[in-house]
Amino acid sequence: MAKIPRETVDAVRERTDIAEVIERHVALKRRGRNLVGLCPFHQEKTPSFNVIPDKAIFHCFGCQTGGDVFKFLMLLEGLSFGEAVRELASAAGVEIQERELTPAELRAHRKRATLFDVLEAASQFFEAQLWTRPEGAAAREYLQRRQMTEETSRKGRLGWAPGGWTNLIDHMHGQGYRPEQLADAGLARPRQSGSGFYDTLRERLVIPIRDQRGRTIAFGGRLLEGDGPKYLNTPETRLYQKSKVLFGLDQARGPIQQRGRVLIVEGYFDVLSLHQAGFGEAVATCGTALTPDHLERIRRLAKDVILLMDADEAGLRAAERALPAFVDAGIQPWRLTLPGAKDPDDLVREGGPEALEAALGTREPLFEWVVGRKLDGYGASAMSRERVLDEVLVLLRKLRDPSLASRVARRLGIQEATVLERLRSTPAPAATADEEAEPVVPTWRPHRDVVHLLWLLVHRYDRVADLVSRVGTHLLDGHAPVRNAVVRLVAGEPVAALEDPDPEVQRTLLAVAARDSLYEEAGSEVAVVEILARLAKPLRSAQLATVTQQVQDLERQGDADALREAIQRKLALISEERQLESALKRADIEAAMAVLASPDDDTS
Ligand code: CTP
Ligand code: MN
Repeated sequence: MAKIPRETVDAVRERTDIAEVIERHVALKRRGRNLVGLCPFHQEKTPSFNVIPDKAIFHCFGCQTGGDVFKFLMLLEGLSFGEAVRELASAAGVEIQERELTPAELRAHRKRATLFDVLEAASQFFEAQLWTRPEGAAAREYLQRRQMTEETSRKGRLGWAPGGWTNLIDHMHGQGYRPEQLADAGLARPRQSGSGFYDTLRERLVIPIRDQRGRTIAFGGRLLEGDGPKYLNTPETRLYQKSKVLFGLDQARGPIQQRGRVLIVEGYFDVLSLHQAGFGEAVATCGTALTPDHLERIRRLAKDVILLMDADEAGLRAAERALPAFVDAGIQPWRLTLPGAKDPDDLVREGGPEALEAALGTREPLFEWVVGRKLDGYGASAMSRERVLDEVLVLLRKLRDPSLASRVARRLGIQEATVLERLRSTPAPAATADEEAEPVVPTWRPHRDVVHLLWLLVHRYDRVADLVSRVGTHLLDGHAPVRNAVVRLVAGEPVAALEDPDPEVQRTLLAVAARDSLYEEAGSEVAVVEILARLAKPLRSAQLATVTQQVQDLERQGDADALREAIQRKLALISEERQLESALKRADIEAAMAVLASPDDDTS
């Protein structure tokens, strides 16, 4: 791994005419000292894309994209930094001396390595094992047997984790990574007895799990044969939370938007195999139930959401359980049963894409399917029909879709009027009642802390995103309209890609992106933690009020054990509050995070 010396990079930049390079891609007209044109990074009708040859930079006032000539090529052609420099070097008459880093430089570099770097280096090791080592042969044959093409496997960056206990650790050590860094990334575990670490994944086919920006954040490991769990995955880490990741979404994003539909399947292999069969819009959870976070990530991308759960009882139950989350997200999904109780991977392998496309034609609304399933479970008596109606009434009310009431009535074999009557007479949950009483929904007004939080996510992403993600976006429950934008920024989407449906939020995002100085790099972490603490304040006060009320109630009831427990909870809350205050005073980020990111705050 050769690093191009800085002086060389500077020399290439200095001797390259940025205007000439950009003009190969963008038509430019002179305006004063600048050249202007239509921005290649966003859609525009009037030019706001500026090239400033004096400063050797470009900048778009429309989408706020900018940088030097290397950045331009990186963004436009998807080159790495090194590739961009090499691309321009010979034309600039600069020779690149490929130089290995000295061991000291390497160590210094690795020390600064992020978890992302560690995971990327490991991924490259696993890939090399799969494709170039004799030990990888069994896995290559396995993939062939499952009819995974080499192209699919390489695109998914599949790899092989060799047997033995410390192959990865040893290899990474040679590259300057410490076992503790591997452990942080979930790739190594401390030995139970004695000291030292061992590889988490051994003798398994590894499947990288990537975030929305395509960065590897975890690995699934599939057993090829023999005894043991079918999958062994690297554990959740700072970067990897199952409840927030959809496997395959980094590659599925484009196809989902183009086709206006997303296929949610159960397994990694289903995703790989569907992508290979031309269904690029497939994603999967990583072996967990669907969460509101998952749905938030796909809600805006496509109208049609189709669940393809396995036809076994577990799959059916998963589909049923997913309904409330969908309803809360305002999504009316479809589901379908695959013929012959196959999983999607089997179906396309045996019947080709046509078989799946045909099956998709038989999809039905999840809501009605759940009604039918409950009815089958309870029997068809009038009483069980009532019971089913009772159970789905809350969901029905939340969706506020008049046609749904009549469809459910038909499915239950009762009068539509009865369903409508029950909808009217059943008391609504408090929040819904308020909304109905007040038809004018107050639009969101920018709030200082929220605006600053957005600014930090846009301009200081690398410093603050992990902190925000550790705390969770439930803090924004009081600012619901920005929640989605914050979730997407935290997930690494560029601000230019966010088109928020709320005009006030969209305007705020742009204003925030255009504002170039608010917090220094160095102060960003402290600033974001203070903001998060302030946003958390109402929640924490509410928790304290609740437990205080409980203590009072229990005092009256005289239940000594429960009272003791409640008092303890109250004291714990108070002590946490003190810890937080003192941590903020000392600007001790980790101590503050220990309180803010504590698990009982993380339930929403
Ligand atoms: N899973 C897991 N751990 C297991 C079993 C399953 O994490 N021991 C998760 C994985 O994310 C897996 C998903 O649940 O992809 C679905 O499981 P399954 O249908 O058994 O796996 P497939 O990916 O379909 O694998 P295969 O086709 O190889 O059986
Ligand atoms: Mn499968």
